[in-house]
Amino acid sequence: MKNFKNKVAAITGAGSGIGQQLAVLLAQQGCHLSLSDINEKGLAQTTELLKAYPEITVTTKVLDVSNRDAVKQWAQDTVEDHGSVNMIFNNAGVALGSTVEGASYEDLEWIVGINFWGVVYGTKEFLPFIKQTKDGHIINISSIFGLTSQPTQSAYNATKFAVRGFTESLRQELDIEKSGVSSLCVHPGGIRTNIAKAAKMNDSMKSLGMDPGKSIKQFDKFLRTPPEEAARQILNAVLKDKRRLLIGADARIVDSFQRLFPTGYQRIAALATKMM
Ligand SMILES: NC(=O)c1ccc[n+]([C@@H]2O[C@H](COP(=O)([O-])OP(=O)(O)OC[C@H]3O[C@@H](n4cnc5c(N)ncnc54)[C@H](O)[C@@H]3O)[C@@H](O)[C@H]2O)c1
Repeated sequence: MKNFKNKVAAITGAGSGIGQQLAVLLAQQGCHLSLSDINEKGLAQTTELLKAYPEITVTTKVLDVSNRDAVKQWAQDTVEDHGSVNMIFNNAGVALGSTVEGASYEDLEWIVGINFWGVVYGTKEFLPFIKQTKDGHIINISSIFGLTSQPTQSAYNATKFAVRGFTESLRQELDIEKSGVSSLCVHPGGIRTNIAKAAKMNDSMKSLGMDPGKSIKQFDKFLRTPPEEAARQILNAVLKDKRRLLIGADARIVDSFQRLFPTGYQRIAALATKMM
């Protein structure tokens, strides 16, 4: 893809953080938008920001990405409303802080439904339409925790490692097909958004000597990169047709460390957790 002018992009989780900034930056570059989020208020806030760009068409839908039928309908509506769709940013995501032992099956199904199945539904439902344009992109947001694990993040780690495997395999298929469609897996480090505040944390962390309330604050402190910078780097990576994007020095350092010490990094992460 050479530029975003007059393209159509669909974004999940567009009511906050990275998704909201992707919408603003794409609008600045003349891209039409089909936005969704489970949070109606957040989505309305994004729409308000987009009023500064009257030349683009914006449609919105309140939906839960873990609902397959809703995502299927949204993909169809997007094409009906905009005539075509070139990009899907599978961005909606949530976090859960819990030990493996202490995680309820309800919470595990909740996070897997959003962070993994949401990405699968978005990819599968939009892909046939995107292929019709012969100039498209699938952008899936994983995490630095899709490359390295962390105590109390087993469920988040599992979903984000899964997004990485799913997206890299998809990219290989798209390479073979030469369909004009590409995919990118994004691994942000700490981005200053609402992700920590919206996270579910449970008391099982206490068995590791961690306080759930304090952990949210600690987690929040590590979120340093502004979301607009994350969005800028993601769009740049789409234009450069990159396969993988790490965002932030923190992500690059942690990634290098786990490459050098693929098992040793786990001991250090466990030690660091104990000291928190
Ligand atoms: N912020 C970080 O440090 C960071 C780091 C690595 C990866 N990520 C990933 O980036 C993505 C964007 O997160 P963010 O940091 O902008 O967080 P955020 O909390 O600011 O935004 C997430 C958005 O997803 C929406 N959402 C949540 N559940 C949903 C559902 N079931 N259906 C539809 N929408 C839903 C929320 O309403 C919210 O608007 C997520 O996938 C997250 O895991 C974030």
